Amino acid sequence: MKVLLVGSGGREHALAASIAKSPLLTKLYCAPGNPGIAKIAECVAIGAGDIDALLAFAKEKRIGFAISGPELPLVAGFFDRFEAAGIKAFGPSAAGAQLEGSKGFVRDLCAEFGIPGAAYKRFRQAEPAKSFAASLGLPVVIKADGLAAGKGVIIAETREQADTAIDEMFAGAFGKAGAEIVVEEYLEGEEASFFALTDGEAVLPLAGAQDHKRAYDGDKGPNTGGMGAYSPAPVLSPEVAEKALEKIVKPTVAAMKQRGTPYQGVLYAGLMIKDGEPKLIEYNCRFGDPEAQVLLPRLKTDLLAMLIAAREATLGDLKLEWSGGAALTVVMAAKGYPGDYAKGSEIRRLDTAAALDGVSIFHAGTAQKDGAIVANGGRVLNVTAVGGTIQEAKDRAYAAVDAIDWPEGFCRRDIGWRAIRRKTTDQG
Ligand code: AMP
Ligand code: GLY
Repeated sequence: MKVLLVGSGGREHALAASIAKSPLLTKLYCAPGNPGIAKIAECVAIGAGDIDALLAFAKEKRIGFAISGPELPLVAGFFDRFEAAGIKAFGPSAAGAQLEGSKGFVRDLCAEFGIPGAAYKRFRQAEPAKSFAASLGLPVVIKADGLAAGKGVIIAETREQADTAIDEMFAGAFGKAGAEIVVEEYLEGEEASFFALTDGEAVLPLAGAQDHKRAYDGDKGPNTGGMGAYSPAPVLSPEVAEKALEKIVKPTVAAMKQRGTPYQGVLYAGLMIKDGEPKLIEYNCRFGDPEAQVLLPRLKTDLLAMLIAAREATLGDLKLEWSGGAALTVVMAAKGYPGDYAKGSEIRRLDTAAALDGVSIFHAGTAQKDGAIVANGGRVLNVTAVGGTIQEAKDRAYAAVDAIDWPEGFCRRDIGWRAIRRKTTDQG
């Protein structure tokens, strides 16, 4: 089967690496891909948002299965357009992708079906939004309803910040995404991500992961798109994972089916866990980035077969196999990220680092220039390792980081600290 994978980051590199191992695959194309992906797939210069061009390419090459890494194409109808053209695709549909595309949609669904979330209200006018925010106490969370590239959430610590966030959203700070807003209760606890695959009816739990959003060690400094991640997440104990599955994910899948818009695809639940009880922060309709980079290296089952089973509604027949241990990824970023940074510095000794035990290096923001790999973004590499424990995965990942010659880059040195501390305390 010929497969078209859409996207260009570390998540797509991890997806490509798993798909490339599938016995079902005859040829893998990636649009637009990156220099790391180019080693295992044929990259084609079509942007992830250009569904017309993707579809024309897929028809010309007789693609048998199409997969989008990022959410934007899915919310814009990637699945629906491909399926309408007779090309099988990995969902969700645009209707299903509303679980990520509209924060208000998710909160309404949770309220209607009794799924644990946050107290909230939806608004199109500033004044009622401000008085509701005031009634919730502090901190309070203000969200643009639509997709805002991960930036549309403000945790306001004061009334003034809340009012300003509300005014700015209605003034267009997030464009159309902020025409409607959600004001919601601040949930306390420890955050973790839980991933499941569903065919619209059957739900196959995948695994949990945790990431580090702050730029510097000790979870300090500005927010980023994620500086590292690990899987499994010790806070998602088997009991908590079971609750997340039974009280949050399965009821959501059942609700989407009941509404006549069954959800097929990956469901990524962002959870807040307090006293062993998970509550839903948000859904994403795709694999996480960098969470995919730590989930997929642990998976032994054929990923392509799993994704196809979600499309064919045969997930119930699948049994997953995982490697016993853990995986951890360290994001190497260009110095200055998430502020201003330079592009174009050369990265050396990548092959030496990638040859170390248990190590995979996923490209997130690189380019090829005169035969060399150069930095081409803020977050540039995902240096990933598997190991028997998170500590072992961490040691291996940092050994690979240290083997890479890239003076213009930096990374956090403490990825996984929460999990490692928890393990140490658990063992007394
Ligand atoms: P989102 O864009 O929905 O992922 O939100 C970004 C981040 O804001 C989440 O990862 C949480 O850390 C935080 N967040 C969002 N909603 C809430 C909430 N209701 N309570 C506490 N933290 C939240
Ligand atoms: N790691 C956060 C995300 O993929 O949205």
